[in-house]
Amino acid sequence: MITAVFFFALYSRWIILSAADDQYGVDTSFPIHHNFLTQSAQLDATKSVFGHHRIQTYSEFFSGCLRYYGKMNKAYLCHQHEEQRLTLNKMQPRKMTNYTDVGFVKTKVSDDVWKMIQQFWKKHVDRVDGNIPWGLHNESWPEGNTYTNHWTSPTKLVPIMVDPNATEAIYKDVESQLRVWIPQATSFRRSNIYGIRVYTSGSILAPHVDRDPLVSSAIINVDQRVVEPWPLEAYDHEGRAHNLTLLPGEMILYESHSVLHGRPFALQGEYYANIFVHFKPEFDPVQASNDNGEL
Ligand SMILES: *[C@@H]1O[C@H](CO)[C@@H](O)[C@H](O)[C@H]1NC(C)=O
Ligand SMILES: *[C@@H]1O[C@H](CO)[C@@H](O)[C@H](O)[C@H]1NC(C)=O
Ligand SMILES: *[C@@H]1O[C@H](CO)[C@@H](O)[C@H](O)[C@H]1NC(C)=O
Ligand SMILES: *[C@@H]1O[C@H](CO)[C@@H](O)[C@H](O)[C@H]1NC(C)=O
Repeated sequence: MITAVFFFALYSRWIILSAADDQYGVDTSFPIHHNFLTQSAQLDATKSVFGHHRIQTYSEFFSGCLRYYGKMNKAYLCHQHEEQRLTLNKMQPRKMTNYTDVGFVKTKVSDDVWKMIQQFWKKHVDRVDGNIPWGLHNESWPEGNTYTNHWTSPTKLVPIMVDPNATEAIYKDVESQLRVWIPQATSFRRSNIYGIRVYTSGSILAPHVDRDPLVSSAIINVDQRVVEPWPLEAYDHEGRAHNLTLLPGEMILYESHSVLHGRPFALQGEYYANIFVHFKPEFDPVQASNDNGEL
């Protein structure tokens, strides 16, 4: 009991210091390692920076999942997915090899590629019905998945893969920029390209890490109709939170297998459209023997 109180005092002091630094760590904006609704130390941490605001946001987020999947008697899946997300966040990053100092960098797509993306996108946004691009299908999420609050803010999908030329050009452009950012890699193996995902009003993306082979990745902002910038919250390799904002045509390169990333502040606006591009870096045989065990 005495130990617990003592630890508590130390912990809160550390939090206040880091808040004064204008920096905060995990479990402040959203449950990332622990569920702050049930763990008093984390509850204190978020209160000291945000008051009750984030607690309320997360309570609404999670009870939305419970309500929606509870109708099908599947609320237990919400609990399972949240536990998996938090466990992965806690266990995975420390086991990964980091290839850059910070873990992310902001850049932009090349002019040619940007033209192709815009052409593809225009075909869809030209058919605007109300405020959301018309005719877009809901993206399907596994039942009880808690990465997004798709139960109140459905995400939409316009598959860029149906345009092989644009897909190829995007892969090539991102790869050439990754080569500069991670020069020690001898090559980059394509893992996946995903999107265009269109987040809608009120969207939240719970902070998470990606699974192997989604290692060296990019987020491209294709289009947005927002009232205020919608930050990607990314944790650098030292565990500090950063808000990264993008304009259309800009992108973030990041080490998605070790950098915790999410959009815990609800989207204020109508939509926000992104493409995700994933690679796995490869190394010459000498270096690879050091890296294989870790990934
Ligand atoms: C899309 O998802 C939302 C929220 O889950 C739901 O209300 C809506 O009916 C879905 N639309 C379609 C076309 O399935
Ligand atoms: C893709 O590129 C090829 C070769 O440049 C071209 O012939 C073809 O028309 C392009 N396809 C589309 C859908 O733009
Ligand atoms: C790599 O980065 C992650 C977080 O981004 C961190 O948890 C981990 O300790 C770092 N690994 C090393 C060896 O520094
Ligand atoms: C990120 O933005 C949110 C919302 O505007 C803000 O409350 C939070 O303090 C910011 N986080 C950092 C690390 O600056």
